Amino acid sequence: ATIVAIDGPVASGKSSLARKVAKRLGFAHIDTGAMYRCVTFEAMRRQIPLTDADTLTTLAHSLDIRYIDSHDGEQNRVLLNGEDVSEIIRTPEVSRNTSPVADVPTVRHELVRLQRQLALRGRCVLDGRDIGTVVVPEAHWKFYVVASLDERVQRRLLQYQSEGHAVDVEKLRADIIERDRRDRARTHGALRLAPNATILDTTDISLEEAVEMVAALVEQAL
Ligand code: CDP
Repeated sequence: ATIVAIDGPVASGKSSLARKVAKRLGFAHIDTGAMYRCVTFEAMRRQIPLTDADTLTTLAHSLDIRYIDSHDGEQNRVLLNGEDVSEIIRTPEVSRNTSPVADVPTVRHELVRLQRQLALRGRCVLDGRDIGTVVVPEAHWKFYVVASLDERVQRRLLQYQSEGHAVDVEKLRADIIERDRRDRARTHGALRLAPNATILDTTDISLEEAVEMVAALVEQAL
């Protein structure tokens, strides 16, 4: 299977990069963060306590999560049991609640199983935190995307503003720092650099330049 794994901290640009690289190569894009967000959103809607690991795990097992390619280069659509939840899973509130849900090892186990199944169909780009380390350690291409904290805060601020969310920049910065801390600290599937991953610092380069670098490497080898 031809698999490109892209990991990195909060708002480092991995999802946009993964989407555009996938489009350019004609590969599928599997946004694994969206899966954790779907479980969290559905748990919030059903008022399941985010500390109830058993019920969260059953929920993760039962959900039907699908991706629909947008074809216009915009954000792909995410369908949760047939319902388009693409926007609602990206609100600041769902983002904040996703960290504790993603900490639950049995929830991760369920989602990783699904992610591996999709990945092994081949010709795909996956983005997340543990793709190159846990989900598909055998991936041929692994990238670890980073950007300075200021740059990441700025990018997420613009994203929220364009979606009409009112955000306090200091609160946003604190949220990003806290999610990064949790992502690095968890016992299963923590964010860390895979030994053979290429670090891509996107602080001072455009999204298009990053896409070009990653896609060119893969294209050369294909
Ligand atoms: O775009 P952003 O970096 O804000 O988040 P995301 O990639 O959509 O992921 C949302 C949350 O899901 C993160 O805060 C992680 O805690 C969790 N996640 C994870 O634990 N493992 C993954 N493979 C992907 C996301």
